[in-house]
Amino acid sequence: MDLPNVSKYAFVLSKGKQNSVVKKGLFCITQTSEGWLIGIVEKIILENEYFSNVQTVKDYNENNLNVIKGMFPSENFEYGIAIIKCLGIISFKDETKTKISNIKRMLFPAKPGAEVHLCSEEILSEFLGFNNKNGLNLGKVKIADFDAKIDINRLLNKHFATLAISGAGKSYLTSVLLEELLLRDKESGVPAIVLIDVHGEYVYFHNIKKFKNRVSIQDSSYFQISVPKLFAKSFKKYQENISAAQVRELNKILTKIRNQKQSKSYTIKDIIDNIENDEEINKSTQQALIGWLDELDYLQLFGSQENPPIKHLLKTGNLTIFNLQSETSIRKKQIIVDYIASQLFYFRKKNKIPPFLLIIEESHQFCPEAAQSKAISKWIIETIAREGRKFMACLNLISQRPKRLSSTALSQCNSKLILKISNPYDLKHIQESDESITKSYTDMISSLAVGELLIVGNAVNYPAFIEVRQRICDQTKSRSLLEMCSHWWNIHEKERN
Ligand SMILES: Nc1ncnc2c1ncn2[C@@H]1O[C@H](COP(=O)(O)OP(=O)(O)OP(=O)(O)O)[C@@H](O)[C@H]1O
Ligand SMILES: [Mg+2]
Repeated sequence: MDLPNVSKYAFVLSKGKQNSVVKKGLFCITQTSEGWLIGIVEKIILENEYFSNVQTVKDYNENNLNVIKGMFPSENFEYGIAIIKCLGIISFKDETKTKISNIKRMLFPAKPGAEVHLCSEEILSEFLGFNNKNGLNLGKVKIADFDAKIDINRLLNKHFATLAISGAGKSYLTSVLLEELLLRDKESGVPAIVLIDVHGEYVYFHNIKKFKNRVSIQDSSYFQISVPKLFAKSFKKYQENISAAQVRELNKILTKIRNQKQSKSYTIKDIIDNIENDEEINKSTQQALIGWLDELDYLQLFGSQENPPIKHLLKTGNLTIFNLQSETSIRKKQIIVDYIASQLFYFRKKNKIPPFLLIIEESHQFCPEAAQSKAISKWIIETIAREGRKFMACLNLISQRPKRLSSTALSQCNSKLILKISNPYDLKHIQESDESITKSYTDMISSLAVGELLIVGNAVNYPAFIEVRQRICDQTKSRSLLEMCSHWWNIHEKERN
């Protein structure tokens, strides 16, 4: 073994400790010439010199175990070696050794023969970059078993992604995060939260008494984009095949309508009527425009007024859920998300709404990577990902297919909350999007259990594994497949039998 070196060292476990205290993933501390070195147990090896000789093993196995065990105390020869991955060197503020004054990288290996101790919770919490006083309690640090209180500024100042296979616990984790944000006192500072809820999984928040005044649900069935607010070129966004000449004609018609109608309240139908009655317009342009607009009108997303009025919707510390559960058309969902995100970013840039966190479930549907699968909402999501930080417009992109998520958007997510991912392509994609996710981390990500996550990036100083805590307000008791079948039978089929 070429240890110790600057990135790893090994130590021999004290007798009796090899099975109990020291485990893979435990944080340790040891004194070095540069300061105190914090490391994590990466591997534990058990050695027994007694069994290093093949003949001894053969004799041991061939003889009656009980007899030979008494004669040869092989257990006394057993010892454990822990391999530690070095994380960083800390200096303490004072002699009490309770506060860290500075963290740096190691330049010199650990000292052979030095004692290795368990790292205390306080030190470790500070070392990892948690905020014990004011942080978001997402759960417990694995193995070390203390609260992982993520610093809200560090997580929300830049964008973050929640990634995992289906069923690994992304939505559950998001509920925990929402609870933490909604439980915070508004005076201490909480952004407004907007959630794109594709499956209606978060609507239950509205029924929780203590959150009732802080949660509003906006059902997509009532969603409306205000037609009078749309310019001619905005229609091109929704119907990209409209030609430049057609946009010019549409512009003329819109100007005419605006001059006619002082109320400025008109719909797509009114525009179509005006086009039909226009005598100057070229016939083929007229037919084409009517076709494009008719198709848009059919989506039932455009009306004379905006609903809900996005500018007045957001309040700090409040959660606005856009429930898209009843929407089946992916195009309609993308138009809705595009409109919400564009309006939010526009008003935020003008400082008309508070800083916000926009959480997008199934974000690969709204901001896909592949050039062939176009999404109207992709441009605005990528724009917020690139520029939103300067305006305190934070994104949380949730996806079960990181590979299908735009790499531009993903690479702007400075922090990542990664639950179990097993698909090698997805693992490769996230590894490429973040240099701190090394091969050894991707190996561990694929063996995580439901509700376990790896947090990496800006939110923490060092990657940490966390067991997500239980939801405080668990109103949605999830039903098993068999319970659902039996429920269905009771309601729909029992009578007929
Ligand atoms: N930390 C946890 N503690 C207890 N149960 C959990 C935890 N995380 C997830 N679960 C359970 O696992 C199941 C799947 O979780 P969840 O719906 O959050 O998965 P998901 O990653 O959002 O999946 P999908 O991609 O399909 O939306 C749920 O029944 C949930 O109750
Ligand atoms: Mg989910």
